[in-house]
Amino acid sequence: MKAAITLRMLIGAIITTVAIAQVAPQPDGWPVFTYQGVVTDKSKLQYNPTNEYIFPSVFHASIYLKTPLGAWYLYYAPHDDPGGISLMYANSPDGPWTEYANNPVIKNVWSGHYSVPHVSSPDAKWNNEASRLFVYFHGSNSQTRWAETDDGVNFDYGGVAVNNTMGGPNVTETSYARVFTHRNPASGYAYGMFYMGNERDNVRRIRLAESKDGRTWTVDPSYVVEPGPEEGANVSGGSLWEWKGQLYVIYHASSGNSYARTIDKTLRKVGSQPILLHKSSGNGEDVGRVASPEIVTFGDKTYLFYESGDRLGATIAWAKIV
Ligand SMILES: *[C@@H]1O[C@H](CO)[C@@H](O)[C@H](O)[C@H]1NC(C)=O
Ligand SMILES: *[C@@H]1O[C@H](CO)[C@@H](O)[C@H](O)[C@H]1NC(C)=O
Ligand SMILES: *[C@@H]1O[C@H](CO)[C@@H](O)[C@H](O)[C@H]1NC(C)=O
Repeated sequence: MKAAITLRMLIGAIITTVAIAQVAPQPDGWPVFTYQGVVTDKSKLQYNPTNEYIFPSVFHASIYLKTPLGAWYLYYAPHDDPGGISLMYANSPDGPWTEYANNPVIKNVWSGHYSVPHVSSPDAKWNNEASRLFVYFHGSNSQTRWAETDDGVNFDYGGVAVNNTMGGPNVTETSYARVFTHRNPASGYAYGMFYMGNERDNVRRIRLAESKDGRTWTVDPSYVVEPGPEEGANVSGGSLWEWKGQLYVIYHASSGNSYARTIDKTLRKVGSQPILLHKSSGNGEDVGRVASPEIVTFGDKTYLFYESGDRLGATIAWAKIV
């Protein structure tokens, strides 16, 4: 009798623990990112149509471009209409960052190609097959396009990489894509893409597309990350990150924090519990929502560039492991 009650209490305690522990413990050696400041000073930037900026994408320009403006390029954009893919450059990921003199480098109207209310969420990825830089961006929300460049500022239009139709009949938005080198050569694909698919149920999930050349994409019917109780209604801003030999899908969520889940090289076996990647410290100006994590490791330093603040009032901030 007594044993049965004890057993029932024990099971109750275990169930409670499982329900509360919505984030998985951070693995040994997990990065601690310390706030460093704002990259996009809204009071100083020339191209500032809506007083908000999102989605940093960092590109090591001096490895690939002949005469870059700086060793490092940071693409970003306003979210609201008209958006506009913008560029800052620096000689080190530590900055200081200089605004490109003629932003935006990709506009919401491109004669002969498209005219949309806004373009936003740039992601820069060097394309080995084409020996050119490809920049992916959404415009408007129902498709992610790409443009190609030899110098990072003058672009040729590429086309539509992924659209709603490719995601299935319920998909209503196809945006916030990031592209990376595929880690599974046996798949035959050279590139992987995580992007946000919104659906008729108004839940935003992370989807997977794969490509041999960065131009023609195949969308996987399964979700990569569906939001759970920790994340809230939406997850977005997915990216692939490798840390201490383990691959992760990193992303942000309605909770206002960024997370990581383990993923295998086939991009199909995803950890069921999120690990907390980053949240604001609450000190000084390091407050509020964090989103769109972009982690850069250079030499022995690791940086986090991200979106800081409300979704429609954000700015680009950075942090690093100190
Ligand atoms: C989406 O892309 C597919 C494949 O390129 C194409 O067949 C389809 O017509 C496109 N759908 C829309 C709505 O543009
Ligand atoms: C579309 O949504 C409906 C309603 O939630 C669901 O029953 C159906 O399975 C979904 N279809 C696909 C292809 O996901
Ligand atoms: C989900 O995302 C949409 C678009 O950003 C937003 O309007 C909505 O409030 C979000 N839901 C939650 C619960 O945060």
